[in-house]
Amino acid sequence: MKFFVDTADVDEIRDLAATGMVDGVTTNPSLVAKSGRDFMDVLKEICDIVPGPVSAEVTATEHETMLAEGRKLAEVAPNVTIKVPMTWDGLKTCKVLSGAGTQVNVTLCFSANQALLAAKAGATFISPFVGRLDDIGHDGMELISEIRTIYDNYPALVTQILVASIRTPMHLKQAALIGADVSTLPPDVLRKLAHHTLTDKGLAAFLADWQKTGQNIL
Ligand code: G3P
Repeated sequence: MKFFVDTADVDEIRDLAATGMVDGVTTNPSLVAKSGRDFMDVLKEICDIVPGPVSAEVTATEHETMLAEGRKLAEVAPNVTIKVPMTWDGLKTCKVLSGAGTQVNVTLCFSANQALLAAKAGATFISPFVGRLDDIGHDGMELISEIRTIYDNYPALVTQILVASIRTPMHLKQAALIGADVSTLPPDVLRKLAHHTLTDKGLAAFLADWQKTGQNIL
């Protein structure tokens, strides 16, 4: 499974990229607003840090303007993936951009049928939002299973399932068990994946015993 990091915080991305766990980055208008920085500057910096796909979202809602925005964002770096919302205008834009060889991420997906449409429009990635479905009492992971089944039923559909709106390490584990292609993780969730209380406890015991030997490796 590929790990993307879901943030526009360049310092966080640089720090996490050094772990070798960051295969790509996703941003959205809310994350850019949270960074308080100029979108184009941030995008360029992220693309310089991470060689994998970096999602940058259009903000227009009408096809022609979305297309113009997508083309402008794609010029920033070769690894920019254009993110479009799951609307008919977004799907039209996805079809044109993907037909011209630009990677496209269709975002704000909340149903299996939406994922099927995005794949038919040539999306490189579909982003189902699991946390937001859980928030309203639905089962976000059930949607991931449905999309996995549908895409596997039709091998011509090569769109990658990019699980978004992940809130907990449990979401990540479930997505991996289902066989999602990518998970985009908030930095704090990515950091939590390495943590286990028994690891901490075991390490403390090893170090205490080692100290008793009076030895040093270096
Ligand atoms: O990638 C989309 C993601 O950022 C949405 O997450 O937590 O705002 O639902 P959340």
